Amino acid sequence: MPIDRCVCRQIPFEELRDIAAEESLGFEALLDTTGCGSSCGLCVPYIQAMLATGRTTFPVMSPRELERMCKSPQAAEVKPDANSPSAPKPA
Ligand code: FES
Repeated sequence: MPIDRCVCRQIPFEELRDIAAEESLGFEALLDTTGCGSSCGLCVPYIQAMLATGRTTFPVMSPRELERMCKSPQAAEVKPDANSPSAPKPA
């Protein structure tokens, strides 16, 4: 199941990206404005990755993978960690 929204606020990342662009909001201001990240917080690293890359859909990724994606947003593919839920399983 792809990650494409703040589940607690039911706001898709696509809408968050548009709000950030239209209102020139950075990460903290976007969270303050929308309330995203203020409940369970699981969407927070994905929102950071969304702002860094422009992507609005992600596989389930580890915090380390998301951090790596934020540091190299130009990378088309981020190799998953071996223990990540998104890592390919050996045959
Ligand atoms: S998914 Fe965004 S605060 Fe829970």
